[in-house]
Amino acid sequence: MLKTICYKSKSNSGNTIIDIESLFYNTRQNNNKQEIKGILIYRDTTFFQILEGECTIVNTLYQSIKRDSRHGNIKELLNTEIDKYSFADFGLGYATISSLDALYGFQEYLNKNDGSDNFKIIENLVQDLLNKEL
Ligand SMILES: Cc1cc2nc3c(=O)[nH]c(=O)nc-3n(C[C@H](O)[C@H](O)[C@H](O)COP(=O)(O)O)c2cc1C
Repeated sequence: MLKTICYKSKSNSGNTIIDIESLFYNTRQNNNKQEIKGILIYRDTTFFQILEGECTIVNTLYQSIKRDSRHGNIKELLNTEIDKYSFADFGLGYATISSLDALYGFQEYLNKNDGSDNFKIIENLVQDLLNKEL
């Protein structure tokens, strides 16, 4: 069974660019190994992440992410079972926002929109984050 978790959080002020780069690097390595798809965005001290994968793997990872002292104020936006990956078909694996394929994956993700407020929140949040630097 597959599931997705989506949240935003605040980076801790002690994080350097190098800390963030190394977090991104390790995330890509680990997630590709565990067939976790999705996206991790960092903009203006805010993290935004989508995780998709096998339920037990995603739940275990999310537990350790929640304990990670590099961020706080985690606000969960989605935590639900899914039929298939949104980010699977782009041959990329775990993505950062600088890649165009990630944006297509994101579009697909939003296409599952069930009309709930959470999707509106996610859409607005990502729009906001992207407008800041792109
Ligand atoms: C915002 C944020 C997102 C993270 N996302 C992931 C992730 O997607 N995959 C991953 O392996 N680690 C991620 N981490 C790192 C994990 O919290 C943790 O350090 C890593 O899984 C190693 O855990 P362990 O030391 O318990 O083995 C993230 C950390 C932060 C602060």
